[in-house]
Amino acid sequence: MCGIVGYIGTKKAAPILLEGLKKLEYRGYDSAGIAVLEDEVIQVQKSVGRLAELEGKLNGSAPCGCIGIGHTRWATHGKPSNENSHPHQDCCGDFAVVHNGIIENYLALKEKLEAQGHKFCSETDTEVLAHLVEIYYEGDLEEAVRKVAKELEGSFACAFITKKEPGKIVALRKDSPLVVGLGEGEYFLASDIPAILNHTRLTYVLDDGEMVLMTQDKVTVKKVCSGEIIEKEIFEVKWDPVAAEKNGYDHFMLKEIYEQPKAIRDTIAGRINGGVNLDKVLIDRQLLVDARNVTIVACGTAYHAGLVGKYIIESVARIPVEVDIASEFRYRNPLVDEKTLMVVVSQSGETADTLAALREARSKGAKVFAITNVLGSSIAREADSVLYTLAGPEIAVASTKAYTTQLAAMNFLALALAEARGTLGQTEIQTIAEAMQALPAQIEEILKQADKVKEVTEAIKEWENLFYIGRSVDYAVAMEGSLKLKEISYIHAEAYAAGELKHGTLALITEGIPVIALATQEQVLDKTISNIQEVRARGAHIIAVAQEGNKEIANYADVVLTVPRTHPVLTPLLAVVPLQLLAYYTAVVRGCDVDKPRNLAKSVTVE
Ligand code: F6R
Repeated sequence: MCGIVGYIGTKKAAPILLEGLKKLEYRGYDSAGIAVLEDEVIQVQKSVGRLAELEGKLNGSAPCGCIGIGHTRWATHGKPSNENSHPHQDCCGDFAVVHNGIIENYLALKEKLEAQGHKFCSETDTEVLAHLVEIYYEGDLEEAVRKVAKELEGSFACAFITKKEPGKIVALRKDSPLVVGLGEGEYFLASDIPAILNHTRLTYVLDDGEMVLMTQDKVTVKKVCSGEIIEKEIFEVKWDPVAAEKNGYDHFMLKEIYEQPKAIRDTIAGRINGGVNLDKVLIDRQLLVDARNVTIVACGTAYHAGLVGKYIIESVARIPVEVDIASEFRYRNPLVDEKTLMVVVSQSGETADTLAALREARSKGAKVFAITNVLGSSIAREADSVLYTLAGPEIAVASTKAYTTQLAAMNFLALALAEARGTLGQTEIQTIAEAMQALPAQIEEILKQADKVKEVTEAIKEWENLFYIGRSVDYAVAMEGSLKLKEISYIHAEAYAAGELKHGTLALITEGIPVIALATQEQVLDKTISNIQEVRARGAHIIAVAQEGNKEIANYADVVLTVPRTHPVLTPLLAVVPLQLLAYYTAVVRGCDVDKPRNLAKSVTVE
């Protein structure tokens, strides 16, 4: 994980680096640091904790130079401490480096360097980079960095400066994101686009195996291995920078929950026109017809979107779907081949395990269809075909609008498969397409219940354990609801298939324990109600999520949160919204740091 930034130009680098790091704090906030070249000396300032700590420390005493690099850390090797914070330097303080990723062979490199007399100050894998560049430097930073890169195994986006060539930044990438911003007489470097948006919209997205040399008047991209110059295509970012700000909401998460109607509207716009405009979703049409099975791979919330996808695709396209967690998939010699339609789902498009799963599947001949939110991300670039969710930047660590747009994308895929395989007629496709168009307005209706959801937090805020139950696709939604609550309110929550409770978990039901019961699936409603009665009889406090017009449920629940009626394959897009609000308000009332929950980071670019 971690975020890196760089600046070279005529302005003071420190404030620009700090501003960029603020936009990258979602990638980690265990510590932050900057290195600025001033009067041919590298001034390094670091601080443990949030960026605000570093800003406080620098108040009035920030270095004045116009070239620098910066870092915000999510600890992997070594605890959060001043020593382990980036930037790291070599023994003489001649070089400084920041790094995002993992150097897998760092221990072997460290032993070698120590045997040569190098003294290490930190426990990090990154520090080997500073010592290696010192060894290889013979008057040309670019050459030295190229030699360092040849020694490395693992994933890295890193940037180097040296006081020996004070007008230069050299950076490179392999498996960790890096973008270059092109200003007028100034250049920027960052792990993600929002960090440079206040300065420029013109960027290069570096590819794996590329390095960039930045001087005050020029940027050159080259292949790391050969030094061959690459003519990069300039990519113009269209996002509005204010879209990445809070816009009056207390937290990014709440803002993003409220942005869902727009996010879904944007995601389906142009893709539904009368029926579903399947051309816009297309992968290889023949593969849709010929595929023997579908394998969906993702992590966390995106994995939960995959679980919903299984229900939808199997129900409308009648093809077997397997869903796997990316970190499991990649190590089990998975059974995929050219007859498999492999689907990877990732908001960031940079999740290391998901990217590795994509590569594993492609190496076995499978065609990969990616659902991602980030244009030009690694997953988008390496997949055979991409469907972008147009959720806009998601800043809160807990995913909300990315999830619902992923569900919309799953529906497109399901309909594309159903159409190609002839399992649904045009009328049925049109019915679902029309129901999709109604979703944004329906979500707006649900959001009007926010005050009621706030009241529900009273019943759960003091508990340290609770349960989510549901049947059919409601079970998959229950899993997402429970993850949302766990990650931001720190209440332990378990999701169970409602019919499975009596096989063990019922023993945990005690007087007053909250059970959030999803009951949106008509075909299993009676069964779900029986399960609700089982837990109620043992004293549980029932918070139900049900479809409007379901009068019966009120007889068995203490509180009912309603969602408008829709087509059965679309209920998850609505049912999850009250669960997101519930997690949010519970976390707020418990005084948790909603947007930056402890131990987590937004983009997980390490295994
Ligand atoms: C939870 C959450 C994570 C991500 C997971 C995958 O709210 O956001 O579980 O879903 O880390 O991230 P992406 O989708 O970027 O691959």
